[in-house]
Amino acid sequence: MTNGSSPRPIRIGLAGLGNVGAGVYKNLLKNASLIEQRTGAALTIGKIAVRSPGKARDVEVPAEMITTDWRALISDDSLAIIVELIGGTGEAFDLVSAALKAKKIVVTGNKALLAERGKELFALAEECGVPIYFEAAVAGGIPIIQALQEGLVANHIKSIHGIINGTCNYILSRMSQAGLSYDSALQEAQDKGFAEADPYLDVSGWDAAHKAIILASLSYGFWIPPQDVHVEGIDGVSIEDIQFAKRLGYTIKLLAVIRADEQGLIEVRTQPSLVPNNHVLASVNGSFNAVVVNGDIVGETLFYGRGAGQDPTSSSVISDLCDAAASLIYGFRHSGFVPIGLYGKSKPIDDTVSHYYLRLLVTDEPGVLAQVASVLGARSIGISSVIQPEDLESTSGTTSLVLMIHDATMGQMKEAVQAIQALGSVREKPSCLRVETLG
Ligand code: HSE
Repeated sequence: MTNGSSPRPIRIGLAGLGNVGAGVYKNLLKNASLIEQRTGAALTIGKIAVRSPGKARDVEVPAEMITTDWRALISDDSLAIIVELIGGTGEAFDLVSAALKAKKIVVTGNKALLAERGKELFALAEECGVPIYFEAAVAGGIPIIQALQEGLVANHIKSIHGIINGTCNYILSRMSQAGLSYDSALQEAQDKGFAEADPYLDVSGWDAAHKAIILASLSYGFWIPPQDVHVEGIDGVSIEDIQFAKRLGYTIKLLAVIRADEQGLIEVRTQPSLVPNNHVLASVNGSFNAVVVNGDIVGETLFYGRGAGQDPTSSSVISDLCDAAASLIYGFRHSGFVPIGLYGKSKPIDDTVSHYYLRLLVTDEPGVLAQVASVLGARSIGISSVIQPEDLESTSGTTSLVLMIHDATMGQMKEAVQAIQALGSVREKPSCLRVETLG
């Protein structure tokens, strides 16, 4: 505190005492005096709503703080801020709406809720004159939301490339570096507390897609409809692709790509992609996240940190609590979101362009490469290189063929891959991955 006056007491209602909720409780106590000095507020948790009061937890909380009904947080006039950490898009939506209507500031880490129902919630927040803060919703402990809302506010955002799912990055890193199977690497990620309760959200690419929607909506000022986002997960990435990518000088990452084209159409996608080893994103390993934001004035900026886990994510929630406290003490600075444009258009995924990696298992006989090249050539798709590793030729008369493809639209590639799969010499479903040039 800078002015020597007593700190302003601000009481918080916490909904959800899982991994992140426990971190918020623990770390708010741990750094209480620092936070008080910096904000001029004495932030305390007053009440906690949980589903199962008897459950073993990472933190011990006084029993009188616990309720099993989140409505008890809304009706408690002493609570000025509600932290929503229950997850999901149903009950969480009711809770956040009720909090806003009761004029309580909302802090949430719920990316699915904002990506799917953010438009309604921020309209309600505007109507009620109450902000929503959501730093923890994207990239765990990295303050990327504040960076976009404040630090980069002067920029048109040209593109964002991000590794924004810690679980997927952990799995791919362990497969690549330790040769672990997909299942063992997923189990490790779950044991370490990175994965969502339902790992489908992580490995299907949807958790990253929800975060990408939030980043894209913030950057371009309109809510990107989830159905406009192309989402591919890592469950189809094979150890063979990881090894071939390595030989070729690339690392496979689940990448979120958000980009505006010259017509202002916005592309949002999450896909396992080959990243050149000399790009900084290739060295982001384990549960770490990294986001590269390219602004028209600032150029390239890089944000790196832990993208999942109790402490990093609680750091972001507490940062929102400090912002909320500042709003209460000094007046609201912004509504927590800047959906300034009421218009905006997504780019159809089939029109998006990139380089590709295509791996085929083919019959080892003359003329196969010519057949494949002819399918690609007929669609004006150029090949930049072909690799047929002799050391991987099998005795069963098949061989792997890897083609690196020049710029092509996704629509062209989908069609070509279908036609290639139909060739008699192609023995299994081709593996086709984007190659991100990141230039
Ligand atoms: N399951 C998420 C991840 C947690 O692995 O990144 C943070 O959203």
